[in-house]
Amino acid sequence: MKRPPLALLSALLLGAASLSSQLGAAPAADPTPYARKLDVAALTEIGRALFFDPGLSASGRVSCASCHDPRFAFGPPNDLAVQLAGRDGKTPGLRAAPSLRYLQTLPPFSEHFFDNDGDDSVDAGPTGGHTWDGRASSSREQARLPLLSPLEMANASVAEVAGKLRQGPQAARLKQVFGEQVLADDARAFDAALLALEVFQQSPPEFYPYSSRYDEVLRGRATLTAQEARGLALFNDPAKGNCAACHLSQRTSDGAFPLFTDFGLIALGVPRNRTLPANADPRFFDLGLCGPLRTDFQGRTDYCGLFRTPTLRNVALRRSFFHNGAFHSFEDVLRFYARRDTHPAEFYPPQQKFDDLPPALQGNVNTEPPFDRHVGDKPALDDGEIAAIVAFLQTLTDADLPGQPLAP
Ligand code: HEC
Ligand code: HEC
Repeated sequence: MKRPPLALLSALLLGAASLSSQLGAAPAADPTPYARKLDVAALTEIGRALFFDPGLSASGRVSCASCHDPRFAFGPPNDLAVQLAGRDGKTPGLRAAPSLRYLQTLPPFSEHFFDNDGDDSVDAGPTGGHTWDGRASSSREQARLPLLSPLEMANASVAEVAGKLRQGPQAARLKQVFGEQVLADDARAFDAALLALEVFQQSPPEFYPYSSRYDEVLRGRATLTAQEARGLALFNDPAKGNCAACHLSQRTSDGAFPLFTDFGLIALGVPRNRTLPANADPRFFDLGLCGPLRTDFQGRTDYCGLFRTPTLRNVALRRSFFHNGAFHSFEDVLRFYARRDTHPAEFYPPQQKFDDLPPALQGNVNTEPPFDRHVGDKPALDDGEIAAIVAFLQTLTDADLPGQPLAP
């Protein structure tokens, strides 16, 4: 548990340093330009208020919390595969809204990741970055996306957001923390809001409480039932679920609690979600790391179909799973892992295995256990084993959830 505070500090310092350079702060005129800006408590309050403010959206109806509901670990509050927003408040998005808990130590995206926990000579490949394809390097950069995306909060420009901040209920507090002039300039006002949102998302009790029953087990203050313990063993066993290969389940060597992800980007060959309007066009494919939402690796065919491994903390609160929300129950997700290669007809149309990837790119799909089988083989997990893993995953829900909405 050493990492989150460090990440918090560096995020704050980096945020404040780059913010102040963008603000063009003149150190000579103000010998302590950041002292006031680094008031974490004030920034957290402003960030929280902005997070819950539908007034920041073009429709006036959508806030960050509409898709990232605190009662659901800042994930979606419903079973829609993708949330509805945009200028009319009804436009469907392209991807499932992730939980925002436990992202504090998410590394920035890198094509070659060397983990300092364990063998640091192994290149783990593409890892990290915010969003399903890792395209935003920090939660501050990330917040630009929903504020300006036509599918989400749908502001036409930075100026439109700045205008809302000037008229909005946080105007006075923003000036108090960032200085009288902060709202005078569109870019400065926008950046101040992004920083406040980032600082709020680093707030420990709200975003990384480590209060699940499994955390209590790791602290030696609780025990798993026999069924949950069996599920954990199957989760860890390389010959069975092999889940922990990507969804890390043990404390790191420096004692940090596991996040149930290694933040790696991997292609699982998740079935096409034909209920998404974008997928009505048979030529459209959401290929993750190689685009089209992400643009810096277009043409890197070996990166097509890769999405970032999500945390499984609080996953029991979700009603839609995977980047495209193709599955709606835990059991179905687990059956997909166990039977994708032994019973493909349960998941894909006839003769179209990996139907959400053009045929030429299907070689990118992961074939490590439990995906190392073929039609006719025995699935890696039977129904009883799946039930045990599901029971274990229920122990990863934080103690405060599902709770009441936080007061804005
Ligand atoms: C209409 C629904 C919607 C709204 C509103 C919304 N988001 Fe999101 N959010 C998403 C989706 C969908 C993704 C995944 C995007 C992707 O992969 O391209 C996401 C991703 C994120 C991530 C990255 C999480 C990760 O695992 O890397 C962060 C952080 C985030 N949103 C914060 C915010 C903030 C802050 C706001 C308000 C300014 C906001 N979101 C508003 C739907 C929404
Ligand atoms: C090779 C790495 C890897 C292994 C092994 C693996 N996963 Fe995953 N898991 C991922 C990736 C990557 C995703 C996201 C894929 C996507 O959306 O396209 C994911 C998504 C999930 C989700 C959906 C979470 C959400 O928020 O939508 C669940 C649940 C899950 N995995 C559980 C498991 C279980 C249980 C096992 C073992 C049976 C397992 N995973 C094995 C990489 C892995």
